[in-house]
Amino acid sequence: MLSKNLTEELNLQVKYELYSAHLYLAMSAYCTDLQMDGFAHWFKIQAEEEKFHAMRFFDFIADMGGRVTMMALEEPANEYDSLADVFEKSLHHEQFVSARIYHLMNIAQTEKEHATISFLNWFVDEQREEEKSFGHILQQVKRFGGEALYHLDKELSTRTFTPPVIN
Ligand code: FEO
Repeated sequence: MLSKNLTEELNLQVKYELYSAHLYLAMSAYCTDLQMDGFAHWFKIQAEEEKFHAMRFFDFIADMGGRVTMMALEEPANEYDSLADVFEKSLHHEQFVSARIYHLMNIAQTEKEHATISFLNWFVDEQREEEKSFGHILQQVKRFGGEALYHLDKELSTRTFTPPVIN
């Protein structure tokens, strides 16, 4: 059974993951406005991943006998200076989410809540991958211009998301 503190913190993570989806849809809309349809698609797929993350927390709380409470989401930024600005801010947001996952892990370890530790391990690995992919695209966007940026847009338009099977 989850402690009150851990239940509240995991519940807060449902909100942060949904907020991530909200933020990435705002970024997708900005990219569409720039006629960068591949980037816009990439952020839409990222929003799908974030909803999947949110539902993993949602289901885990329920599986552990806890009660999920849905919370209001803040309005994300809708305006950006450039594609590089979008990726600077999205990487910064992912770093915030990673810090949140570490915070949850610290609580679970202090409470010796092994089911939660096992559950969170997947997110530790996932955050490492997310920071890597956002950082990689940021570096490309900063370095590329003209034709190369056009090719990157085409490459990002092929992204797909299939929810992983997790035991
Ligand atoms: Fe669910 Fe991108 O953190």
